[in-house]
Amino acid sequence: MGMLGRLKNKFYKKFSKSDELITVENVNYKGEEPVVEGEELISIHGVDLSYSSKSGPIKALENINFNIYRGEFICVLGPSGCGKSTLLKILAGFIKPTSGIVKLSGKEITGIDRNRGVVFQHPPLYSWFSVRDNVAFGPWMRNIPKATYRQQTDEYLKKVHLAEFADKKIYELSGGMKQRVSIARALINDPEILLMDEPFSALDALTREDMQNMTRDIWQDTGKTIFFITHDVEEALLLASRIIVLSKHPGRIIDDIPVDFSLQVTESGGSEVKFTPEFYKYREKLLRLVNS
Ligand SMILES: Nc1ncnc2c1ncn2[C@@H]1O[C@H](COP(=O)(O)OP(=O)(O)O)[C@@H](O)[C@H]1O
Ligand SMILES: [Mg+2]
Repeated sequence: MGMLGRLKNKFYKKFSKSDELITVENVNYKGEEPVVEGEELISIHGVDLSYSSKSGPIKALENINFNIYRGEFICVLGPSGCGKSTLLKILAGFIKPTSGIVKLSGKEITGIDRNRGVVFQHPPLYSWFSVRDNVAFGPWMRNIPKATYRQQTDEYLKKVHLAEFADKKIYELSGGMKQRVSIARALINDPEILLMDEPFSALDALTREDMQNMTRDIWQDTGKTIFFITHDVEEALLLASRIIVLSKHPGRIIDDIPVDFSLQVTESGGSEVKFTPEFYKYREKLLRLVNS
């Protein structure tokens, strides 16, 4: 059984909550997460994060608790400034929580390593280097033999539909293509989890849709765990297997729900799902939450 079937049949025991009209009034989130039948990959327990500033500490995250299970596609949704990037930086190991603990496969995350691949909104690529050399950077740093990483580079360039552009320089590429390079560059290290921080926010609507479809395909082909930050409700609904909503500053979790629209898009081969009453219902609920 493929990734799709596995997710659909057993991953989330209780897939959709009920048919009742979901409104903010009956959200009642009390810290419970969806029941997930899978291997726990990351655990986040009691995390607070305060930045220090001249006028005293700025609390960015408050009492964050959840687990990430292998194979999930989690979208974190929340208004600007609510602490989404802060949470991603903690998972990446760029910053340490002020209190609480974050573990990957039972081991505390204490710094950066290649188990977590990061994709930013503005990819930090080497402009004067070729697409191929940018993608090969990780394995080259790790002294992987050239023949091996050449082959891996070709494989990942194909996954992001850039095979014909391997010899172009980064400065010759469009924004969407640069983002494809940065996804391939993260995937080639075979990270346990891909962390993506509003990766498509700066792209035009059509390119964004292409990139969303590609990301969904990669998720299903590779079975990678993806942690994806967005402030766009529709994007979250079209990609995620689970959506975690953060309140406005300081960020606290205000909802955590499994969704299956992403799987429906794959099954139907199109995004008509976004015109269904069910989709509208979730969209409305999430819009209200994000703006509450
Ligand atoms: N390095 C920093 N020093 C001080 N405050 C920061 C720093 N980074 C972020 N903040 C503050 O923390 C809060 C959360 O920021 P951030 O995680 O970037 O939010 P988001 O990604 O959801 O827009 C904001 O109020 C922001 O101004
Ligand atoms: Mg941010």
